[in-house]
Amino acid sequence: MPDAVRPPAEFDFPLSWTGPEGIGASPFDEFAEVETPDVGSDDGQDLALALRRTLGMFATGVTVVTTRRGEQVHGMTANAFMSVSLEPPLVLISVDRRTKMCALLHEGRRYGVSVLCETQAPLSERFAGRAGEDLPEPRFELVRDTPLVQGALAHFVARVERSYWGGDHSLFLGRVEYARHHKGTPLLFHGGRYERLGHVR
Ligand SMILES: Cc1cc2nc3c(=O)[nH]c(=O)nc-3n(C[C@H](O)[C@H](O)[C@H](O)COP(=O)(O)O)c2cc1C
Repeated sequence: MPDAVRPPAEFDFPLSWTGPEGIGASPFDEFAEVETPDVGSDDGQDLALALRRTLGMFATGVTVVTTRRGEQVHGMTANAFMSVSLEPPLVLISVDRRTKMCALLHEGRRYGVSVLCETQAPLSERFAGRAGEDLPEPRFELVRDTPLVQGALAHFVARVERSYWGGDHSLFLGRVEYARHHKGTPLLFHGGRYERLGHVR
């Protein structure tokens, strides 16, 4: 590997800790439940729920993460999406290990990220597996063999460079291969609810 693309030594973890079969079985598991966090829950209140409510104060956009295996297209609503690096271009998604999406992703596989616009909350519900009679049928376009949701504000295609242990989630670091955006206003998620921007610049 040329020096320009070789990660600094401190980031070059052995893949045996982080590869697909290593997820959830890394040395970090030993420390996972050392101390109960102080999340300010009242007596008897579920700790995870209290933590989730506080985390929910962080307003995010909403995306649909997609991938394709053969003829099978799969999409999953995700707000745990972040930019990581411009050089090299890297993004990160956090995926619940119990989801179908998690079983489909691994190093080398591509995923798409479609950033939803404010009118696409019904699509978010659909890809979150929530039943509803009038949830819309999604329409996809294929870019680099990867499905992307039509009408979204922004599209990315990334190839999984590394996967990491993330407790009950797995983290998939993707190298961006394609990115496009359109003008429009995003769908937001805050406090467990969909929101819209109060004003547009
Ligand atoms: C607004 C919103 C954001 C979500 N964000 C995530 C997320 O970042 N990661 C995740 O694993 N699940 C997330 N979910 C839950 C998944 O969309 C849901 O579990 C889905 O049914 C998983 O699909 P699958 O098992 O078919 O892959 C989110 C749901 C909603 C409504």
